[in-house]
Amino acid sequence: MLLARRGIYSLLLLLQVAFCAVQFQSPDDLQGVEYDFIVVGGGLAGGVVATRLGENQGFKVLVIEAGPSNDDIFASQVPGLEPNVTMTGTRVDWNYTTTPQIHVNGRVDPYTRALMLGGCSSHNGMVYTRGSRDDYDRWASVTGDDNLSWDKNVPIVLQGQPLPNPNATGHYDPSLHGTHGNVNVSAPYHVHPPNDLMVEAIKELSQSSDEFPALLDMNGGRPIGMGWDQDTVGGGLRSSSATAYLAHTGDNVHILLNTRVMRIMPPTDDHTSNEHPDGTDIRSIEFATSPTGGKELIISGGVINTPQILLNSGIGPKGELEALGIKSLIDNPSVGKNFSDQPTLFIGLSTNLPVDGFNMTAALAEWLGSHTGRLADPLHMASLGWVRFPTTANPFKDGSPDPAAGPNSPHIELYFKNVTLIPGQETEMGDATLLMNIVNLHPVSRGSITLTTSSPFDAPAIDTNALAVPVDTAIILEGIRSVQRLFSAQTFSSSVFGLVAPKADVNGTLSDEAVIDYITHNVMPDLHGVATCSMAHHGADWGVVNPEFKVRGTTGLRIVDASVLPFIPSGHTQAPVYAIAERASEVIKLSWK
Ligand SMILES: Cc1cc2nc3c(=O)[nH]c(=O)nc-3n(C[C@H](O)[C@H](O)[C@H](O)COP(=O)(O)OP(=O)(O)OC[C@H]3O[C@@H](n4cnc5c(N)ncnc54)[C@H](O)[C@@H]3O)c2cc1C
Ligand SMILES: *[C@@H]1O[C@H](CO)[C@@H](O)[C@H](O)[C@H]1NC(C)=O
Ligand SMILES: *[C@@H]1O[C@H](CO)[C@@H](O)[C@H](O)[C@H]1NC(C)=O
Ligand SMILES: *[C@@H]1O[C@H](CO)[C@@H](O)[C@H](O)[C@H]1NC(C)=O
Ligand SMILES: *[C@@H]1O[C@H](CO)[C@@H](O)[C@H](O)[C@H]1NC(C)=O
Ligand SMILES: *[C@@H]1O[C@H](CO)[C@@H](O)[C@H](O)[C@H]1NC(C)=O
Ligand SMILES: *[C@@H]1O[C@H](CO)[C@@H](O)[C@H](O)[C@H]1NC(C)=O
Ligand SMILES: *[C@@H]1O[C@H](CO)[C@@H](O)[C@H](O)[C@H]1NC(C)=O
Ligand SMILES: *[C@@H]1O[C@H](CO)[C@@H](O)[C@H](O)[C@H]1NC(C)=O
Ligand SMILES: *[C@@H]1O[C@H](CO)[C@@H](O)[C@H](O)[C@H]1NC(C)=O
Repeated sequence: MLLARRGIYSLLLLLQVAFCAVQFQSPDDLQGVEYDFIVVGGGLAGGVVATRLGENQGFKVLVIEAGPSNDDIFASQVPGLEPNVTMTGTRVDWNYTTTPQIHVNGRVDPYTRALMLGGCSSHNGMVYTRGSRDDYDRWASVTGDDNLSWDKNVPIVLQGQPLPNPNATGHYDPSLHGTHGNVNVSAPYHVHPPNDLMVEAIKELSQSSDEFPALLDMNGGRPIGMGWDQDTVGGGLRSSSATAYLAHTGDNVHILLNTRVMRIMPPTDDHTSNEHPDGTDIRSIEFATSPTGGKELIISGGVINTPQILLNSGIGPKGELEALGIKSLIDNPSVGKNFSDQPTLFIGLSTNLPVDGFNMTAALAEWLGSHTGRLADPLHMASLGWVRFPTTANPFKDGSPDPAAGPNSPHIELYFKNVTLIPGQETEMGDATLLMNIVNLHPVSRGSITLTTSSPFDAPAIDTNALAVPVDTAIILEGIRSVQRLFSAQTFSSSVFGLVAPKADVNGTLSDEAVIDYITHNVMPDLHGVATCSMAHHGADWGVVNPEFKVRGTTGLRIVDASVLPFIPSGHTQAPVYAIAERASEVIKLSWK
């Protein structure tokens, strides 16, 4: 049963004294200040919501972020230094790993999540893809809210602002982009041999097949074909929710850094009952909003931490929580369930194309001088490919339903990384490897985020449940076949010489069994997780939030982040999360007009 709770939620905070840096502000400093809105998590979505609410000068908004300011993290500013901030185990990472994946040979991977202002928009790969029209229309139909449909979202999506870089002409369609949005979006213009060869190969292949159409702009709602990547970069700088939103707020928006919210509770709750391990560097305090000043609490901790905070607070599957000794506040079996992330894996092709190396010292000096050069763009290649399989394709021959959201949606992304030297993989034909990722965009398998103990200090179990459903593997297998068809173009005959990972046998053949073996050892999460606090329609018997982003069975509590998206989009997630956060901001503002 869902217990209706009225009134203002209060917060229990953990101060991590280890983070005590110049920006550290004690919550004590906030005593006496009455906030209208408290946003937990200054990440991608939290940064948008706090900024939009703060546009009303009458509102006082507090953002509580567990990590430091992005300003302190130099590599977060420089697009080409992305690998330096996304590697696991840095001081701006939550250091999560997945549970052993039983369908991927027990594989365990890092599940990187940024721990700094801007969240993952301060460290991600910067690829800007909106997904397909069908993705948004499916969210609208699952939630019963037509406001989530593609047509209703386009005006919001146009917040993205591609810079009119003269070198990018022909790399995107200006009519699909805004001119005054917050986030800088640019089309890369680096000249690199594989990019030019790809254009030639597409022309050649389109004579005989419709598998790889040329695509001028992949952000028009039908991302099927081969085209140019767009990135959240402007003027050689990463553009994030911290730089594009939070940096431009008035002084009615306060940001409390290095402060982690452990759980939320009604003010009357007896919060001394939950035990915390002792630790000299750690102390817990209660931080309560004024009963008369507070309007709402908004949780934006992201796809892992938002369900974790709810579960810690007793909002979740009653039986599971009570088994851990956590008092149930609101019984909701959907919290943390339905976790969806795209399975991806690296493949490599033998090539004699020049290695994509550069002199880091010189490149850094150039960037510091003028924000130009190799580090002014992300390091991945400028080509991106999206393949939609016909309904008669191999993955669907056993009757498996098409998992994509509709006919405008691709099944596979081809994400070209770089040409690099991999020791031990030199071949007679070429000594370098063209590295790429194959991404299954619409996994059917669903995983979960669950608590392992009653301590809010412990990381939750992150189970992507990758490849649990056979069609997920079959789609990746067909994706690798698709790559073989792409690189069989005559255009590549003197430069790209076939797969080295997975590797063909001595006869040059690569059996389905060998490819499946490669897949079931190498699949990793693409770090695009959604759906752990899914939105469902009003009155649904599942889901965590309603179409107003309100947590079922509560008042005064909403969730705004990637966790509310019920299905993963046909692409990378940041553009849809920007869109949903803008949508939520409008909904919240309207309700307090
Ligand atoms: C390595 C990597 C590469 C990626 N590359 C791309 C890409 O190229 N293109 C793309 O479109 N998408 C990419 N993504 C995905 C995209 O960045 C995310 O989908 C998006 O940032 C999700 O936004 P969010 O607001 O839900 O969560 P986040 O951006 O993760 O923000 C959550 C914030 O909440 C804070 N927080 C969490 N718990 C607490 C707590 N208890 N108390 C206080 N604060 C808390 C966190 O520190 C964080 O700042 C990538 C993701 C990763 C990890
Ligand atoms: C980025 O990482 C590379 C490789 O580890 C290292 O050589 C370089 O010094 C780092 N740069 C910065 C600015 O941290
Ligand atoms: C992740 O590991 C790094 C390096 O040990 C550390 O600085 C950081 O605090 C860790 N993150 C968390 C959330 O514990
Ligand atoms: C959709 O948005 C409009 C305008 O913002 C609003 O009037 C309407 O109530 C919304 N519909 C739903 C189902 O939320
Ligand atoms: C355009 O490309 C040329 C040649 O690669 C380069 O020198 C120039 O800096 C680029 N212009 C911009 C605005 O990036
Ligand atoms: C966007 O790019 C312009 C110049 O190209 C730059 O001045 C501005 O700071 C950038 N904005 C963000 C949010 O990165
Ligand atoms: C998972 O999502 C589906 C809809 O996609 C829903 O029917 C089901 O009830 C959800 N499961 C849980 C545990 O919320
Ligand atoms: C190329 O990609 C690989 C794998 O991601 C990485 O290890 C390597 O550093 C990259 N090289 C360059 C020059 O970007
Ligand atoms: C890299 O660039 C620096 C600075 O320009 C230079 O001193 C160094 O010799 C270069 N290294 C190589 C290997 O070319
Ligand atoms: C591969 O070639 C070898 C040697 O010619 C032959 O013995 C073997 O049967 C071939 N394997 C396949 C699968 O064709």
